[in-house]
Amino acid sequence: MITFNKTKKMFYLHTKDSSYVFGLNCENRLYNAYYGKRLNTAALKKFAEPVIKEVAYHMVDNMRSNYMPEVNIFDGYNVFENTIKITLSNGVRSLDCSYAGHSINGDTLTVKLKDRKYGILLLISYKVHYDYNLIEKSITIKNIDSKLKAVLETFNSGDLMLPPGRYNLGFFHGGWIKEMSLRLEEISYGRKVIESRTGHSSHIHNPSFFVTKDDKVREEEGEYFYGQLMWGGSFKFTFEKRMYEAVNMTAGVNAFDGCPDLKPGEEFTTPSFIIGYSDSGLGKMSRLLHDYYRDKILKPEMVRNKERILSNSWEAFYFSTTEEKLLKFADKAKDIGAEILVVDDGWFRRRDNDANSLGDWIPIKEKFPNGMREFGNNIKEKGLKFGIWLEPECMNTDSNLYRKHPNWCYRFEGRPDKEMRHTVTLNITKAPVKKYLKDMIRRVINEYDPDYVKWDMNRYISETGICKGSQAQLEHVKAAYELMDYLKSLKPSVILEGCAGGGGRMSGGFLAHTDQMWASDNNDPFCRQTIQYGTSLFYPAISMCCHVADSPYCLTGRKSTALFRLRTAMAGNLGTEANLLEWSGNDIEIFKKEIITYKSVRDIIYYGDLYRLESPYESTRVSLMYVSKDKKRAVVFSYNCGMELTKSVNGVDPKIVVKAGGNAILRGLEAGHEYTVSGSNADTVMTGRELMTKGIGLALKKVQDSAVLILERRVK
Ligand code: DGJ
Repeated sequence: MITFNKTKKMFYLHTKDSSYVFGLNCENRLYNAYYGKRLNTAALKKFAEPVIKEVAYHMVDNMRSNYMPEVNIFDGYNVFENTIKITLSNGVRSLDCSYAGHSINGDTLTVKLKDRKYGILLLISYKVHYDYNLIEKSITIKNIDSKLKAVLETFNSGDLMLPPGRYNLGFFHGGWIKEMSLRLEEISYGRKVIESRTGHSSHIHNPSFFVTKDDKVREEEGEYFYGQLMWGGSFKFTFEKRMYEAVNMTAGVNAFDGCPDLKPGEEFTTPSFIIGYSDSGLGKMSRLLHDYYRDKILKPEMVRNKERILSNSWEAFYFSTTEEKLLKFADKAKDIGAEILVVDDGWFRRRDNDANSLGDWIPIKEKFPNGMREFGNNIKEKGLKFGIWLEPECMNTDSNLYRKHPNWCYRFEGRPDKEMRHTVTLNITKAPVKKYLKDMIRRVINEYDPDYVKWDMNRYISETGICKGSQAQLEHVKAAYELMDYLKSLKPSVILEGCAGGGGRMSGGFLAHTDQMWASDNNDPFCRQTIQYGTSLFYPAISMCCHVADSPYCLTGRKSTALFRLRTAMAGNLGTEANLLEWSGNDIEIFKKEIITYKSVRDIIYYGDLYRLESPYESTRVSLMYVSKDKKRAVVFSYNCGMELTKSVNGVDPKIVVKAGGNAILRGLEAGHEYTVSGSNADTVMTGRELMTKGIGLALKKVQDSAVLILERRVK
């Protein structure tokens, strides 16, 4: 997996299908030699030739050799985007780092770089996730100087160097209710920056990207390099195309909000940056990333928990939620087959709109006369789990908490508070604030005994730059992680759902501290197609919460059928947001039937391999399938989405190609086996080969027609 050739001074890192090679030049500085398809021994020898006689470190040599620094350390003359840039308190603004040893511990290589004059050490870490085709990078910066302070002006997690060439960049853009919209565009000369400055990973972008030479994305062919910053706060990705087609990208915490100081003896470790390589399109990228999330990021005991179908009160009742309504709602939820009843916003103090009470976590007597424990017990007696909503990191300015502690929020002295949704952000890095929140969390968990908690966060972390010697946004995210971990430590079986006004915190960073994520506040099934498609590129279905709402949909005004809404949400982690009390008997029956189907296949959706068959960016018919790991079972979802929007949602893009008929070509099956195909009026037996070559006819003639097909492999 990891080797070092002493004579040639080269490091070789291998995953199942990729190789990563870097070495030391004659000045003992690191340069990057190769990343891409796995190389055999003969090909590796090429890199063992002493091609790097000269200093391949600064820009002149880059121009000549195409070899680039492995880490772009600001050395006074490296004018490219810097991975690490440090200013020392004596005014020296450069680092002069060279190799000072390395260690290989199993799957992890750590290379030590030391400044030749001052006490700064950089530990460059590479963890090889062999089966997942991933390399996890991070950097620890140590100040071992006895006197000097080091200011980290940039403190990125790592770089991705690409073989010189013309590439397209796939990244996400969007906004609230339009998260994870995919865009593919050429990486042209100059710099392209994708970043968040909101304190979350944000609705606007996502800390995920891929790079390919393809002009149109392909699912099963083509070379794709990709990466994700495992961080839930502000981030920055810089893609830079230099002279001679050299392309580099740098990823890390966004330094715009302030620079951490390292006093003598202190150190800082960046979040992880995972980079990956797929030799077979986006499909392979997603499948391996989903495995990685399920195996390494999410908590194993929670991944095993399949009982996640929830009915949430938010869009059903908004702030007019009451115990009386919710108990009736719970009966309906139970009837349709839901497993968790969630009381969303509106249950505390005098919360009848979003302008008051946030921060005062005491149930409203008028709405919940018997208190939350009693209410939760009643829900549990109905055979449902009990879930509750919290937004711990904010407070309304009209709250007892704010009146008592006006200084607990981020604020520039003498400036008015910057309210968003009538709230300010609590400075959760302060000990008394953290204590207040831990006490509140302990009380909620111990007294109300929920089985599920939705942790929301509905504003930016503003007043940036407030923190001297570090950055408020960075410290805030770490403190949020700590509070979430505290909650989980009190009751590990609680399903913790992350949310930030929809998908504003959809990130590997927050998924490492939660169990699932609310993908978007937009539950319009048409809009959901692109949101879920984009999310599925990097995040597994088990982490992507998808709910069925009412029609016409409150945010878009568009009408849709119950079946279309349901089946759209069934392609992920299913729940409801609808007011079930007002649903017609017919729709309830549809619901019940489909939920039975969902329960019979959800293990395939949660744990299987995803194949995207028809993309919402290329076709008005959208199709995808999940195949169980043993290839014995599969479930196919297909939708006719060919409809104009009745109301534009943040400028949703129009569909490009219209296609609703014809066969859908399936994937991921065993060619030589027969499969019975059932569901949606299909009842046939076909071989895997037939299904994967000729495909299966889907007569989705009308807009909103949909199909859910279940495939079972026949015993030979
Ligand atoms: C934003 C969330 O995304 C919604 O689902 C809901 O919980 C509201 N906040 C409640 O205020």
